[in-house]
Amino acid sequence: MNEMENGAAIRNGTAWMDNSGEPIRAHGGWMLQEAGYFYWFGEDRTDGKKVSCYRSRDLYHWESRGAVLTLASKASPVYYRTSLALVMVDQEDNGFGQGAVIERPKVLRNERTGKYVMWMHWENGRNYSDARCAVATCDTIDGEYVYHGSFNPIGHMSRDCTVFQDSDGSAYFISAARDNADLLVYRLSDDYLSIEEHVKTLWPGQYREAPAVMKRNGIYFLVTSACTGWLPNQGAYAYSDSLTGRWSQLIPFGDTTTYDTQPAFIVPLQSQGETSYLYVGDRWDPSHYHHSSYVFLPISFPSDKELKLEWADRITIDLTTGQIEPQLTPSGLHRIKSCGTERYAAVEIGNGGNAKVGGHILSYASEAQKWMVEPAEEEGYIRIRSRTDGRCLAVKRLSDGGLLRDELFVLEGSDASGCSEWLMDDRNAESGVLIRNRTTGKVLSAGFGTEDRRNAHIHVTDEVEHDPRKGRDPQRFEILNVY
Ligand code: DGJ
Repeated sequence: MNEMENGAAIRNGTAWMDNSGEPIRAHGGWMLQEAGYFYWFGEDRTDGKKVSCYRSRDLYHWESRGAVLTLASKASPVYYRTSLALVMVDQEDNGFGQGAVIERPKVLRNERTGKYVMWMHWENGRNYSDARCAVATCDTIDGEYVYHGSFNPIGHMSRDCTVFQDSDGSAYFISAARDNADLLVYRLSDDYLSIEEHVKTLWPGQYREAPAVMKRNGIYFLVTSACTGWLPNQGAYAYSDSLTGRWSQLIPFGDTTTYDTQPAFIVPLQSQGETSYLYVGDRWDPSHYHHSSYVFLPISFPSDKELKLEWADRITIDLTTGQIEPQLTPSGLHRIKSCGTERYAAVEIGNGGNAKVGGHILSYASEAQKWMVEPAEEEGYIRIRSRTDGRCLAVKRLSDGGLLRDELFVLEGSDASGCSEWLMDDRNAESGVLIRNRTTGKVLSAGFGTEDRRNAHIHVTDEVEHDPRKGRDPQRFEILNVY
């Protein structure tokens, strides 16, 4: 991992390399600890590879152990019926390398048989309609896994998945069924090779993906994402004192995009009798799968049944103390978040180079969402300057068929009239501030149009007293540090 080479810190969301300078290909992955190493398994969609493995003693430096499952892997049947097709389902390259698509591989060691058992999501390479799970095994943790085929567990669809090994050795496979509407929990057989029983249906009809389970002080936590393809969304967790019993409702964690990540897995780090928990998320790049990156964040627990995930630009991990320390260095830049729409003010460059401002879903990579907040000439006022093109938020008055209308725009340079000067007013604020223009007295406001629920409009309006029965205040904004 070049960003981490001097062991200083792990920088989230950047390109992480293995010790030989190659990108780490381990998305939707999993970690197992053995003999002083962390083994990181994950999707590898290059050159007929399916699952690759890396190992590290410190979680900073990763040595590639190669692909452990490929199109050329040996295949052998097990004692129940599966399809052994891992190779070509058609002759065309589907863009992800050829053959089946394998996602979210997870590996457990079965104490009884000594085998390493991999469970994963299998699709035919053309579409996501087969929705099967698949199994492979190996005698060593990072050897060549033998493929045992794919199937629909108890006839169910099975897409995003995870496994969980409980302290008594029993293991569970958890996967999204009924076109992702339900999350099903299956107990595995003693040898972990087959499904024994469907033991629980979690949150029927709620469309959850990317499950990951952990246990702390006898309480199970399950984190999941909502179902928006490769786009990030608000993660949620639930807790229970029994994996197969009653679970809490889903409780949001992280921010509206789970800090632009989707859960992959959680690693317990044990040291000096204490356990800390490391959240590992994929930061997908929806336009280039291979530009996707990873995020490591500490999970904290305000109480036995509360789970909290906070953003850190960088983290340090000390395995001797088990401490995962977030590192936050303010960059001097800010994001402007609309409390009402949970969208972030962004410069939109239109055809012909015209710039305007819209409210976008949070993207950590987006420079257009970064702003400089500087003091203006008039005492107490600020200017809000775009990081990308140096222009400032300003208001101009237009005459529209005789009617006067105030419009938000981005102004080049500065204007002595004060049209690009703003007052942050936190009067009566439960959260966020009103951002009031100096010349017109209008305030920033955000809302969704009828067609586009993804991007918000940001404009200026007269200040109105907010009625909480109408939802969150469209005129409140948070000015957040970019770290
Ligand atoms: C979201 C899933 O969580 C990912 O693992 C991946 O399957 C994408 N969907 C594909 O759209």
